[in-house]
Amino acid sequence: MGLFKDYVSQTRKPEGFLGKMMLSGMNSGHAKMADWGFAHLPKITPAKAVDLGCGGGRNAGELLKMYPKAQVTAIDYSDLSVAKAKEYNKKMIEAGRCAVQQGDVSNLKLPRESFDLATAFETVYFWPGLEKCFAQVAGVLKPGGIFMICNESDGTDATSLKFEKIIDGMRNYTAEQIEEALKKAGFSEVLSDHHPSKPWITVIARK
Ligand SMILES: C[S@@+](CC[C@H](N)C(=O)[O-])C[C@H]1O[C@@H](n2cnc3c(N)ncnc32)[C@H](O)[C@@H]1O
Repeated sequence: MGLFKDYVSQTRKPEGFLGKMMLSGMNSGHAKMADWGFAHLPKITPAKAVDLGCGGGRNAGELLKMYPKAQVTAIDYSDLSVAKAKEYNKKMIEAGRCAVQQGDVSNLKLPRESFDLATAFETVYFWPGLEKCFAQVAGVLKPGGIFMICNESDGTDATSLKFEKIIDGMRNYTAEQIEEALKKAGFSEVLSDHHPSKPWITVIARK
């Protein structure tokens, strides 16, 4: 179990050699689910968007493509994720449209009420307290801003529950639990969807 546990635990905070290996497959590994999630976003034209727990940076890159006039910020607390996301979005960073910053979602150092859209893919499992972190997200969103969470676990599937036992600090949530935490953190118009054949969920809320 030792090496396997060490490897899968890199999903929580990629570090060192195993973290680099994990990150090398993360962008492609999560792309299908992320694209399914993106398809749920309402028609909006955000001026500023932020991807939280950005990992290798692919989803920040998708936001840049989806919203060609938007400035996109990508945040992660792992040095390695930040470096990978910077490399992935190098051209857009040089063009002045993208910034990748190290930061913790439990204490966001971003300008308050400045983003129109926040996204979080495959990351809330590791956040230290949903309600507390969602309140941080609410703080950086403009009134009316949208927050989308997308997980490949619906909180009940056997595979993810197995990983929850292996990865310290991981917690799977049902869409209902995420909805509840969003409402407590001050969000409204909370809507969720479940993939018809996979345990994927997406939850969207408005500040
Ligand atoms: C499984 S990866 C997902 C990465 C990316 N969103 C994707 O879908 O491919 C989870 C990421 O969330 C980051 N993360 C976890 N907890 C965090 C926190 N409290 N603040 C910032 N980033 C966090 C990890 O460092 C890791 O890069």
